[in-house]
This record gives sequence, C-alpha cells and structure tokens, in this order.
Amino acid sequence: MTAKILDGKAVAAEMRAEIKTKTAELTEKGVRPGLGVILVGDDPASRSYVTAKEKACEEAGILSREIRLPASASKAEILAEVDQLNHASDIHGILVQLPLPDASIEEEVLNTILPEKDVDGFHPVSVGKMMLGLPTFLPCTPHGILHLLKRSGIECKGKHVVVVGRSNIVGRPLANLLSLKTDLGNATVTLCHTGTPDIGRFTREADIVIAAVGRPEVITADMVREGAVIVDVGVNRVEDASKKRGYRLAGDCDFDPMLEKVSAITPVPGGVGPMTITMLLYNTLESAARTLA
Ligand code: GUN
Repeated sequence: MTAKILDGKAVAAEMRAEIKTKTAELTEKGVRPGLGVILVGDDPASRSYVTAKEKACEEAGILSREIRLPASASKAEILAEVDQLNHASDIHGILVQLPLPDASIEEEVLNTILPEKDVDGFHPVSVGKMMLGLPTFLPCTPHGILHLLKRSGIECKGKHVVVVGRSNIVGRPLANLLSLKTDLGNATVTLCHTGTPDIGRFTREADIVIAAVGRPEVITADMVREGAVIVDVGVNRVEDASKKRGYRLAGDCDFDPMLEKVSAITPVPGGVGPMTITMLLYNTLESAARTLA
C-alpha cells in the first residue's frame, strides 16, 4: 500500500478562496473583517507564524493589525494592548501568540480577550461552550484537522481515533471535538499522553492516529496498523548541517517508513500547518459577519 498524501496546502487554498469571496461580500456591506495579533518577544518560530498569518490575511482581504512588544513587556502593558483591541471597532478577532516569554501570565492574558473576539478559541468561555457543543469559535488547529479529514473524504464517525498529546491547544480540544455528536466528530476517542505506559498498545488499535506530541519522529511505523490514517501535527526543528538554514522540519511521526504501511498521511510541512491559519481566517470572518446578524 502506498499512502495517499493528505494535502493540507491544497485544501487550505480551496477554503481560503471561499473565505476571500465571503470577505469581499462582507466588505461590500461595510464590514471589513479585521484581526489583531499581539506578538511578545522575538522567538523565531512565533515570528514566522505571525508573518504567515499577516500574509494570509492580506491575501484574503482581511485587515491585519500587528502589535509587537519586547520580551521585557510587563503584564500591564500586554493587558493594555488586549484592552485596546477589545474596544477597536475595526477588529473582530484577537490573537495573542503563544508561548508568551513569561508563561505564568498566559492564563490572565487569554482571559482578558473578549469571548466575542476570541478567534483562537482559548478563552475559558469558548472552551466551555465547545465542550458543551454550543456555537463558539473553535480552536484553529483541531478544527482545521477535522476539515482536512472531511474534505479529503475521511469520515471520523464511528472510527476509533487515538490522539497522542494532551495540550490545551491541540490534543484535548481535539479529543473533545471528535467525541461530540456532530458532522465532523462522532468518533470513539482515546487520548494518550506522557502518563500513558506503552502508547503503541493504543495507537496500534486506531483507525486514525493524530500525533500532537511536539517531539520529532516519536510515532514510528511499528506503532500503527496497516491501512491506518495518520495526522501529524508536529513541526519540529531538527539540526541538519546539510541544510543552508542548519535545520530541517520533522513531524512527530517517522514519515518515510509509514508510507508503505498506512492508507493516508499528512506531510510536514504542508499538512496540518496551512489549515491552522485558514481556520483563523474562517473565525475572523465569522466574527465580523456576526456584527451584521
Ligand atoms: N502558538 C502555537 N499555535 C498557536 C495558535 O494556534 N494560537 C496562538 N495564539 N499561539 C499559538
């Protein structure tokens, strides 16, 4: 078996074209969707995510306002910027890039974002509504994965999905969304994490494995069953002297040996990554549209 490559770039391009059309329609009606992004410090990965978000907004016709603060910015300074964006009538979505240099203030900063503008879906109100299956902004990476599977013709309904990783951003919301009785979910879900002895015991049982571990190539071919579907959320930098930039990008899965065994797999890069930003545009458009509803 040679695996089908789940082309996140292509699915994202298709969805972004739809978003661009709807953005133009809304702008025509006098509401141009606007996204405010706060970046604190100069972590290279965060900087490149934020640049990619800006470019994607521009391409979709969405207004993007970026606020850069030094790593030394105080909690009060960050909260003041969030407050400004909360009150800005041309901004419909707010994103504070994580991790913050001081992780201990993340919770308070996220809690300050108005839930009506919480396009990341990280506010406790958004998380609670998601958990209950109520309408809300869904977190971008989990939501993007569900759309990628759906648009690639892979149903989660009735499948056993094993999620590896329990982060607030990916693993736990994903397990929750998959378990809901919705069009994108309705799966049987197992959530594995660092406290799980012998993760392979569970992943070998899975119809769909979703790896959101954050460590390179830890899910190996012997840990998945023949014909499984693999979604790799990891974007890890691995030192590689043969590359000009000194590193290569690796997923959480050992990609090459899996190709002959599984039925479908997302590449890194070009799989889940492009979907995350797409869902951010989707939520920002939705938030702007609500102002007319
Ligand atoms: N850092 C890594 N992924 C994300 C994301 O989806 N949103 C924010 N705000 N920060 C991140």
